[in-house]
Amino acid sequence: MKIKTAEFIISNSDVAKCPKERIAEYAFIGRSNVGKSSLINMITDRNKLAKTSGRPGKTQLINHFKINNEWFLVDLPGYGYAKVSKSIKKTFQSFIKQYFLNREQLICTFVLIDSRLEPQKIDLEFMEFLGENGIPFCIIFTKADKLKLNELNKNIQFYSKKMTSTLWEEMPPYFATSATNSTGKEELLNYIDQINNQ
Ligand code: GTP
Ligand code: MG
Repeated sequence: MKIKTAEFIISNSDVAKCPKERIAEYAFIGRSNVGKSSLINMITDRNKLAKTSGRPGKTQLINHFKINNEWFLVDLPGYGYAKVSKSIKKTFQSFIKQYFLNREQLICTFVLIDSRLEPQKIDLEFMEFLGENGIPFCIIFTKADKLKLNELNKNIQFYSKKMTSTLWEEMPPYFATSATNSTGKEELLNYIDQINNQ
């Protein structure tokens, strides 16, 4: 898919105030600093569409971007940053939860996982929340440029084993990406394109 236009539409903390248009929507979520905003910039070929930062906690609101005048990309705040709480139930800001529970246009959620890390409880719990609520998702292993290919594959295999040996019958669709060298860009855009054309 070619990205012809990518425009920022609105930021807010209330799902009721999100755009009313009934077009396909894809959300990016994951721990703070995992690379959600960078990934959105990478796949849209726009350096400054979504705001990024080396410091966790940069994205604080629900941000809608309209792509090719046809579908929405949504950049969300990260979870797991607040030091006070250990479990997703406590850290997950309620407005994000409300977004997932109420946004009918949401077609697919991309859960971003840092490819360098062992499976983290907070991510597994978040995917459990999506599963329990019947919200379709894919996994994106980010920052793939930081690993050698064999290490990346090993980590993905390990992740897959962890998921399928616990709650899940199979791995959801997954991708490995790098915002630095654009790994995974075509695969991800093709996946979205395929759904849009169904
Ligand atoms: P919050 O909005 O704070 O939740 O973070 P985020 O998930 O949106 O992360 P963001 O895109 O702001 O990136 C966080 C940091 O990771 C920045 O310093 C990015 O430059 C860096 N980063 C993001 N993606 C990649 C990647 O694929 N490779 C490398 N090497 N660095 C990355
Ligand atoms: Mg961000």
